[in-house]
Amino acid sequence: MLTPTEASWGIHAHVRDGRDMAVIIRPIVLKDAASYRRCWDAVAKERRYITERKAPPLSEVRAQFRKTLREKVPFLVAVDGEHVVGFAAAYRRGLPSLSHGGNVGIALLPAYREIGLGSKLMAGVLKLSRGKFACLYLEVFGKNKRAYHLYKKIGFKPCGRIKNYVKGLAYGSDDALLMQKQIHR
Ligand SMILES: CC(C)(COP(=O)(O)OP(=O)(O)OC[C@H]1O[C@@H](n2cnc3c(N)ncnc32)[C@H](O)[C@@H]1OP(=O)(O)O)[C@@H](O)C(=O)NCCC(=O)NCCS
Repeated sequence: MLTPTEASWGIHAHVRDGRDMAVIIRPIVLKDAASYRRCWDAVAKERRYITERKAPPLSEVRAQFRKTLREKVPFLVAVDGEHVVGFAAAYRRGLPSLSHGGNVGIALLPAYREIGLGSKLMAGVLKLSRGKFACLYLEVFGKNKRAYHLYKKIGFKPCGRIKNYVKGLAYGSDDALLMQKQIHR
């Protein structure tokens, strides 16, 4: 596993609220858990992009972090100062029969979108997934054109659709588009 310092890189960007800031992308550390949870919760409460309606309790997030660190899961955060403003990971499912695939998740707080951070987070997760997974896969809601564009740009291919997959979104129900990418060592 790369240490935070070895795997970190930063970008300077102009956030929508007019501030100039430097966001660093680096692997998670245990003390990110609470801030990561707040970020996840904020995106969940938008009810537009991810299936969860709120983040799980902090104790669960901490347990997930410990497992992630133990298993050297590719899991990056984007941090503005001390605050986690986005994350991307390729999670390994529990079953040995599924262990060759990484399930990708990514999200950024609204003010940090569309300034290139998502592309950098995904590039980082792809890099850390080499030698760890044979393929990566994900689901994206049909109306999430921005995420779909990003995934296609970095080489994910559409491989199916689950009709009427999710209900209760801010805009109603939606399909899930399934995408996957083979990993070359
Ligand atoms: C999806 C997400 C991670 C992308 O990260 P990001 O930092 O906003 O994306 P980037 O700035 O790196 O790139 C966005 C790309 O989408 C394009 N884009 C933006 N809106 C678009 C739209 N409506 N249709 C198509 N493309 C769009 C941009 O032009 C840019 O393309 P380019 O790199 O070819 O110029 C981020 O927007 C986010 O967190 N969204 C909410 C949560 C979410 O959707 N998570 C994914 C769930 S599957």
